[in-house]
Amino acid sequence: MNILILGSGGREHAFAWKITQSPLCDNLFVAPGNAGTSELATNLPISYNDFDAVAEAVEKNSIDLLLVGPEEPLVLGIVNYFEQRSEFKKLKIIGPDKAGAQLEGSKDFSKMFMQKYGIPTASSRTFTAETLAIGLEYLESHPLPIVLKADGLAAGKGVIIAEKHIDAENAFTEMLVDGKFGSAGNKVVVEQFLKGIELSVFVLCDGEHYKMLPEAKDYKRIGENDTGLNTGGMGAVSPVAFADANFLRRVEEKVVKPTLLGLKSEGIKYVGFIFIGLMNIKGEPYVIEYNVRMGDPETEVVLPRIQSDFLALLASAGKGTLNDAEIKISPQVAVTTVLVSGGYPEEYEKGKVITGSEKVEDVFVYHAGTTLNGNTEIVTNGGRVMALTGVANSLENAVHKSQRAAQAVQFEGKYFRHDIGMDLIRYND
Ligand code: AMP
Ligand code: GLY
Repeated sequence: MNILILGSGGREHAFAWKITQSPLCDNLFVAPGNAGTSELATNLPISYNDFDAVAEAVEKNSIDLLLVGPEEPLVLGIVNYFEQRSEFKKLKIIGPDKAGAQLEGSKDFSKMFMQKYGIPTASSRTFTAETLAIGLEYLESHPLPIVLKADGLAAGKGVIIAEKHIDAENAFTEMLVDGKFGSAGNKVVVEQFLKGIELSVFVLCDGEHYKMLPEAKDYKRIGENDTGLNTGGMGAVSPVAFADANFLRRVEEKVVKPTLLGLKSEGIKYVGFIFIGLMNIKGEPYVIEYNVRMGDPETEVVLPRIQSDFLALLASAGKGTLNDAEIKISPQVAVTTVLVSGGYPEEYEKGKVITGSEKVEDVFVYHAGTTLNGNTEIVTNGGRVMALTGVANSLENAVHKSQRAAQAVQFEGKYFRHDIGMDLIRYND
């Protein structure tokens, strides 16, 4: 099988690493990829939002399976683009079409979807510029903190949790009147704040059947003890102590099954990943958000725990035969620590030489924002630079492996959190 992965992050490097282990993999391409994927696959210097260029690459390299890493091409309709062209009839794409991708592409759609199909979530109301005055009045009497969400994709910055009414009102006006997030903020969802422990659950779907993948916990804030600005994710752990079998069963019954039934009722044939961001409130799951792809850095802890042939699973998802597929999950613990460029998630510099990554032992090194400088040096090329995953029989040992590697890899301005997984060690005690 010839495979093309779209994306350039740690998630895509982890996909590439797992896929190349499969005997079913003939040729692997990544577009655009990073320095890490270039060691396992052929990087193609094309933008994943340039569908004509992707189609040309699919044709030229006789691609059988297209794995879409990030949400943007899905929300822009890459699946519909290929469906409209008969020469690509045989191409299997892992990712939903435009209608399915609305689960992530429109917060308003996903809230209406959850309400319609009885999926537990925070109560909410949606406002537009036309309903600004009603919205401001609604905010005045809303209990604190208030969660505001830009409807569309806003590069992970579209969620604001306001501790004061005045902050909520200002943010609300900035989005609806001043166009803070462009058209993504044309609608704003005002949501009840949920207090609980957060968890990411992943489901692979073939349009008819599904398989649950290992769950994970993400560390979103830049600072230790979950302080400071939100990031794309500073680390992750899988499995998650507080997500026991009983809780995961509740998630499957109350969230996963109704979600898939809802999609079917809407006439959406969903092939791909559903990533469900959940709050565990006293043992009950509440959906915070859907994503229509795998998480990053969650993929870097989920994939090392999947013992089955991952490419075979993807192929089954493409063919609609996931019910016949086996998924074997390792009981081991995986912990990843993300190295970021100094200044991230705000301004940061690129082009810093990375050393030591080839010497770290007993850890998976997943590149994210890296590139090759003249084919010899690996240099930083983004905010999140590398994810270092330790796998061990205990959470303590997995944390230790990941942290030891995070210390060892060097580049100017390197920053990482030293507390990834520590809260769960305390939870275990
Ligand atoms: P998102 O950008 O949608 O991933 O949201 C960012 C983060 O905001 C989530 O991971 C949660 O930690 C937090 N969040 C979103 N919605 C809520 C909510 N209703 N209650 C509490 N926290 C929330
Ligand atoms: N780690 C969160 C995300 O991928 O959206």
